[in-house]
Amino acid sequence: EKGGWPSFMAKEISEDPEAIENTIRGRFHEGRVTLPDLDALGEGYFREIDRIIIVACGTAYYSGQTAAYMLEKWSRIPVQVELAHEFRYRDPVVDERCLIVSLSQSGETMDTLMAVRFARERGAKTLSICNTQGATIPRESDAVVYTHAGPEVAVASTKAFVAQIAAIYLLALHAAQARQTLTDAEVAHILAEFETIPDKVREVLQHHDRIRELANWMADTRSVLYLGRNTGFPIALEGALKLKEIAYIHAEGFAAGELKHGPIALIEPGQPVFVLVPSPRYDDTLHPKIVSNIQEIRARGARVLAVAEVSDAAVLPIADEVFTVPPTDPAFEPLLHVVPLQIFALELSTAKGLDVDQPRNLAKSVTVE
Ligand code: M6R
Repeated sequence: EKGGWPSFMAKEISEDPEAIENTIRGRFHEGRVTLPDLDALGEGYFREIDRIIIVACGTAYYSGQTAAYMLEKWSRIPVQVELAHEFRYRDPVVDERCLIVSLSQSGETMDTLMAVRFARERGAKTLSICNTQGATIPRESDAVVYTHAGPEVAVASTKAFVAQIAAIYLLALHAAQARQTLTDAEVAHILAEFETIPDKVREVLQHHDRIRELANWMADTRSVLYLGRNTGFPIALEGALKLKEIAYIHAEGFAAGELKHGPIALIEPGQPVFVLVPSPRYDDTLHPKIVSNIQEIRARGARVLAVAEVSDAAVLPIADEVFTVPPTDPAFEPLLHVVPLQIFALELSTAKGLDVDQPRNLAKSVTVE
């Protein structure tokens, strides 16, 4: 069933484009999102709520953190993202004006299920974003939007991650339409770009061979750092999680702005650092800051592995390796930027001769608290 791939994880990364494509298919028409799945929340629901809390664990938590930027920006509803197992133990403010969005590939994660049950008891409505039809969390939620990533077998989650972000974007646009926080033209423009993303992910997948070479060369690496800003921050955290899980390498993700507040002390000659570089075309504030972060770590000997837009002339001369992504709207950059990090973890695990699909100490679905 691996379809000629050496591991399920390799196959599933190659399916990132279809995971996005199948999740958005049929869910917008003529420049508007249509999500009948949300009707169960009630007529006018998105105009009545004043808060959204996303609950999830692991990779699903990072997809929530990533997508929360656009959910809040487009809908103008304040969004919080919480680890499901922290959420219900801190007596949070949850009431009927608050929507709880749970993210879970399996729909069986006990920590996430318990957070959903807790929120329902407090009177909040619950929306499940899930990849498994009929699983426990969607069954116990008021509404469900399925991601259509297809079955994910490898313990390390990859295609479900991009599908979750795509699903939250649909939710965000649905809420923006209901609350009129985006114009029709803005929604249509975003959807037109959204449709191009699967093919842009396919372009990024073309770097696989070069990333394999890099990983083979780095098989003895003891530690890898990841830096990003804005949506690049949770992508950095996700890249680090992938590496820990399947390559058993110490890895940490940082918000690049935090560097000077501590982590830069870690940089010594030869330290590999992945840097997620936002497009210079849209952003005249973030891009120069990331470039100066690269200069700071480079001056201390870091080996800079950049993920940057194809035409980014500022990054080429200051990075040791650049994995390029095609131009897109900044909202969609995380869907392109995560791909080289997924491939890197896969190939480093492979280079170390490890079991990519079944890493030690981990289970695909964590059904205990
Ligand atoms: O099935 P879920 O999405 O609820 O699982 C949540 C986490 O256990 C899961 O994402 C885990 O972190 C993965 N092993 C990450 O690759």
